[in-house]
Amino acid sequence: MLIKKPSDINPSEITPEGVYRNRRQFISDSGKLLLGAAAASSLPSIANAQTGDRLKARAPANMRRTPPAAWWADKFADIKPAPDSEPFYTGETLTPYEDVTRYNNFYEFGMDKGDPSSNSGSYKADPWSVEIAGEVAKPGVYNLEDILKPHDLEERVYRLRCVEAWSMVIPWVGFSLADLIKRFEPTSKAKFVEFETIVDPETMPGIRSRFAIVRWPYREGLRMDEAMNPLTFMAVGVYGDYLPPQNGAPMRLVVPWKYGFKSIKAIVKINFRETMPNTTWNDLQAQEYGFYANVNPAVHHPRWRQDTERRLPQTLFSRSRIETRPFNGYGDQVASLYKGMDLARFY
Ligand code: MTE
Repeated sequence: MLIKKPSDINPSEITPEGVYRNRRQFISDSGKLLLGAAAASSLPSIANAQTGDRLKARAPANMRRTPPAAWWADKFADIKPAPDSEPFYTGETLTPYEDVTRYNNFYEFGMDKGDPSSNSGSYKADPWSVEIAGEVAKPGVYNLEDILKPHDLEERVYRLRCVEAWSMVIPWVGFSLADLIKRFEPTSKAKFVEFETIVDPETMPGIRSRFAIVRWPYREGLRMDEAMNPLTFMAVGVYGDYLPPQNGAPMRLVVPWKYGFKSIKAIVKINFRETMPNTTWNDLQAQEYGFYANVNPAVHHPRWRQDTERRLPQTLFSRSRIETRPFNGYGDQVASLYKGMDLARFY
């Protein structure tokens, strides 16, 4: 983002050596788990494992997380697997779990890619509540269980393209933002949706830091038609497992056709507004980060190009540079939202 341009990023930061060493072990562990499940299919815990095995991907057995509270386990026992085709499944090689959970941007925990996983040990995603405010018939402060209760969870495998010109392919677990929004009955004045992240200086060292550049809370926003698009996803899990803190537990947005900074993490407030909200990166550096932030290979960042990206994981020997596609490859689903708009001006 503001701090590092892509060429400043040392490849050794991207995939720690240990991750690669351990990967063979993970593969062998998952194989053993599958064999074990087949042998003992009558046990209830194994039945859950089998539901999980229909998913496109599961977290390595030895890295699975404890549920944030007991009710989460029931929700995660029955996740609808991603289909075999676009747009909810990309067919590309998945970015390994270890990279998805150790190479992160979450400035509340620090500005380096490893900070969110290293510095989030005391962060708690339970209990959690979300304030629904503004232009809706049913505003209020809802606890997370009530927010999630009516939603069946599904898996979606999306590309994530960061404005820093790296990308991943990630199997999320969650539900459509549109389904959540409809429950609160937005009024006809609701033209934009604004989101805010929790501010907890005690467990988030990036917030306490004297070098912090963000004015907290981290804020993001979408136009109402963007928020209601079927691609826009509220994620509560990744790789068939509960979201770890570094990926935005307990609930974060995923907007796959926009640069990653729109996908705000650890959401505590959703506000429906008539006017366009201010957003964190746009406030900090408006010439570099627009409100729309649609992935666009034709509009370069003032300090680096946007027509290619590094698909992670990347090693010294595999540069993994690929071409960036308009709307991150989701043009069929979303280009019509911007008909008639000059995307070089509304970047
Ligand atoms: N949300 C909050 N609250 N704070 C952040 O610093 N970083 C954003 C986005 N959401 C960020 C955030 C950026 S720049 C990116 S690229 C994605 O999260 C990264 O998501 P990931 O770490 O799960 O890959």
